[in-house]
Amino acid sequence: MSENSNIFQPAFDAPSFDKLEPLNSSEHPPRILLLYGSLRERAFSRLTIEEAERILQDMGADTRVFNPEGLPLVNEADKDHPKVKELHDLVKWSEGQVWCSPERHGAMTGVMKTQIDWIPLSDGSVRPTQGKTLAVMQIEGGSQSFNTVNQLRILGRWMRMLTIPNQSSVARAYQEFDENDRMKNSSFYNRIVDVMEELIKFTILTRDRKDYLVSRYSERKTILQGGQIKQK
Ligand SMILES: Cc1cc2nc3c(=O)[nH]c(=O)nc-3n(C[C@H](O)[C@H](O)[C@H](O)COP(=O)(O)O)c2cc1C
Repeated sequence: MSENSNIFQPAFDAPSFDKLEPLNSSEHPPRILLLYGSLRERAFSRLTIEEAERILQDMGADTRVFNPEGLPLVNEADKDHPKVKELHDLVKWSEGQVWCSPERHGAMTGVMKTQIDWIPLSDGSVRPTQGKTLAVMQIEGGSQSFNTVNQLRILGRWMRMLTIPNQSSVARAYQEFDENDRMKNSSFYNRIVDVMEELIKFTILTRDRKDYLVSRYSERKTILQGGQIKQK
């Protein structure tokens, strides 16, 4: 081993194929939490999330949808607030997530961001989102845009999630639902099926390996040297 403690030291657990073998092989249905970013009574982001939930259930997933109504702003209440606790419990339970925000002024809504801002990067020794899968979606009233999914991808990275490549953006969302609040058959609908299919595949593939997949050399090294890891 080098005298220089700054250079890479394989002793701090270099990657190897055998470590990618899952320690156990989970058989339960993939657990997917779905979040949306609107409090409107007939919110198309909620209807889109409900459509995604039906598709996930048809594919065999176990699903939960969080209703953001009543969630306080960050620091307006503490983490014992019932809505905050409900959100934290769902995040811990989940193995993968779907986030769907409306686009407002070219960006995600405050309702969407508030939910993510309540999720701690670490809670004691548990990192509630780290290594979990994520699918990002947006809906908008205007022509198709990707501003919001791009922002959600940045948030996914910040929460150390495995954000899948495919994504969905439903343009002129008010035209895409019928009088029973079901999504009409369209290329937008088919894209949501594609995204959910990819999410389930990535969740099953990674859920039993996630701790190893996102384990970081720099953090293991700091811990072994008796230091504290930075929240970045
Ligand atoms: C203040 C405001 C800003 C908006 N900004 C945009 C925008 O930048 N791009 C867009 O396509 N639609 C925009 N919309 C339309 C919303 O995306 C649309 O009404 C959407 O259905 C709202 O989401 P919800 O149905 O889930 O509540 C805006 C609407 C409001 C009220």
